[in-house]
Amino acid sequence: MENQRSNFSSKIGFILAAAGSAVGLGNIWRFPYLAAKYGGGIFLLVYLILAVTFGFSLMIAEIAIGRKTGVSGIEAFGVLSKKWKFAGLFAAIVPIIILPYYSVIGGWVTKYAVTFITGGMAQTADDAFFGGFISGTSEPIFWFALFLLLTAAVVFFGVEKGIEKASKILMPILIILSVTIAVYSLFMDGAAEGAKYYLIPDFSKFSSGTVLAAMGQLFYSMSLAMGIMITYGSYMPKDTSIEKSVRQIEIFDTGIAFIAGLMIIPPIFAVGTPDMLEKAGPGLMFVSLPKLFSHMAGGQIVGAVFFLMVFFAALTSSISLMETVVSVFMDKFGWKRKTTCLTVAVGSLLVGLPSSLGFGLWKGIKILGMDFLDFFDFSANSVLMPIGAFITCIFVGYVIKPASIIDEVKSYGNSFKAEKLFSVVIKFIAPVCIVLIFLTGMGIIKL
Ligand code: TRP
Repeated sequence: MENQRSNFSSKIGFILAAAGSAVGLGNIWRFPYLAAKYGGGIFLLVYLILAVTFGFSLMIAEIAIGRKTGVSGIEAFGVLSKKWKFAGLFAAIVPIIILPYYSVIGGWVTKYAVTFITGGMAQTADDAFFGGFISGTSEPIFWFALFLLLTAAVVFFGVEKGIEKASKILMPILIILSVTIAVYSLFMDGAAEGAKYYLIPDFSKFSSGTVLAAMGQLFYSMSLAMGIMITYGSYMPKDTSIEKSVRQIEIFDTGIAFIAGLMIIPPIFAVGTPDMLEKAGPGLMFVSLPKLFSHMAGGQIVGAVFFLMVFFAALTSSISLMETVVSVFMDKFGWKRKTTCLTVAVGSLLVGLPSSLGFGLWKGIKILGMDFLDFFDFSANSVLMPIGAFITCIFVGYVIKPASIIDEVKSYGNSFKAEKLFSVVIKFIAPVCIVLIFLTGMGIIKL
């Protein structure tokens, strides 16, 4: 009995830890604006198809590599094959790019949480509020620095237990709250149009850009192609089923993204303006939701609780992003945790400044037609992550071979139902599709 209990709790512990990393701003902030921008239902459909094929296979591969080698993402490739050591380094670059701008958005969320808590909902519903806020200089930087500081403080002192406990309580509340808000949002006058846009695919809106965006989002949301799931896999108990765990993490992660879309997209049709769809970008959540809350009985309180939850979801993710970056520098240069943590925090503050200023003071500066934040987001998710995922597929498919992953998944008598799907996706479908999608998305080839 005793034995079974501890066994059970460690399985749950693993799933919650992985889900805690996966569920963050990607689900609540990023997914809805991409869905709004890339045609609603068609984006959702493409995303779901990719999730159960690509996402599933890649996550299986990463977790199995981690459990097999028992080392973190940056070293695992080298342990399995000396020549492939570079793949670990490559994966390590992605969180270094993501952490700074993730914290900029985290700062916006913190500002909204504080504004709602202090009774300022009415101002946030104003059309000019969000634009006015992010185009400022010192204010957004202040919230960005505060968010980064909070993240660094946790990584610095390593109070993982507190955060883990908190997220175990807060994540279920986040789910309940999101479902409630989504239901409310669906019952607003005029919301039905929005629900249709989000749920019914319009195939005329399909393009390679949709697939590239959906693929980038998938990697981002599931924390793939940057070694994080390899690291988590290395902590995974040997007798736990990898396949079942991956399914559960996926359902959790995709479920929350789906609900977030239901919360945020229908209000655009009910109380927003039609051009919000085309213009959908990083600001969508901050514009659409306050409008919804201001139409809702008790919106002030619901909004306050909601942004507080998003704040925690973002914080748990940024903590694991920073932890990844810190551990890379510690391993590579042999620095001490505290020095590394300070260096990474200051470095991220500097690297994040353009992302924060890109909507105000540095508005005029565009890279490839994008403002800084979009540019960093695009480079990490649409360029580096597909390359990282491609390297992983080739490595698993042709260097260590799918059989070695399948053995790991099947160890301790566990089954692997989607074994065939996994081999075919990893060896053929994923690498070919990634290259095609990547090249068309970049405009290098036309299909
Ligand atoms: N998946 C996280 C989210 O949806 C973001 C993220 C990407 C992340 N890679 C990560 C978080 C690595 C922690 C570690 O918000």
